Amino acid sequence: MTESTPPDAADLKQAFARFPTGVAVICARDADGNDGGMTANAICSLSLDPLLLLVCFENQARTLPLVKTAGRFSISILAEGAQAMADRFASKIAEGEKLRGVPSSEEAGVPVLDDSIAWAVCSLKETLPGGDHTIVIGELEAVGTSQGRPLVWFDGAYGSLSDADDSAQA
Ligand SMILES: Cc1cc2nc3c(=O)[nH]c(=O)nc-3n(C[C@H](O)[C@H](O)[C@H](O)COP(=O)(O)O)c2cc1C
Repeated sequence: MTESTPPDAADLKQAFARFPTGVAVICARDADGNDGGMTANAICSLSLDPLLLLVCFENQARTLPLVKTAGRFSISILAEGAQAMADRFASKIAEGEKLRGVPSSEEAGVPVLDDSIAWAVCSLKETLPGGDHTIVIGELEAVGTSQGRPLVWFDGAYGSLSDADDSAQA
């Protein structure tokens, strides 16, 4: 076990890189049809009564003002093998380009990616300051699931549950 005192940002990142997560894409489309999205893993279900979710946005993320303007957003939980999609939405290509040509459907008026094993559409309920991030709380409007296994993010790299199966058998 390594320990550093006092801890810095690199220590926090290094420790939490050891926490495996799924990978999601947050999308929004405003009333003028402007859309965009970003890859995120800082997401979590928050409350069952009412039905609430949260997403943590870097304050610089261009998707944050879009979500605020649109008042709604979707969460597409990516399927195994969807690394290219994750990279696309983690990039800084023009916002309006991000969804161009990407297989998706509209759920409750918000784009949802086909490359997902579950999705949710939320209305924006509240934003809370979180240092260099903003915590966005959404109220669930629609949700769905489909078959498949998730894309996994661990130690700064994409993987799959199959990798974990393989290493358990090795
Ligand atoms: C696996 C992964 C997880 C990420 N998770 C988050 C996250 O939870 N919140 C966030 O603000 N950015 C996250 N990012 C970074 C954003 O995807 C990246 O800053 C993106 O360019 C934002 O796009 P935008 O400026 O078009 O909104 C993540 C990136 C990757 C590769």
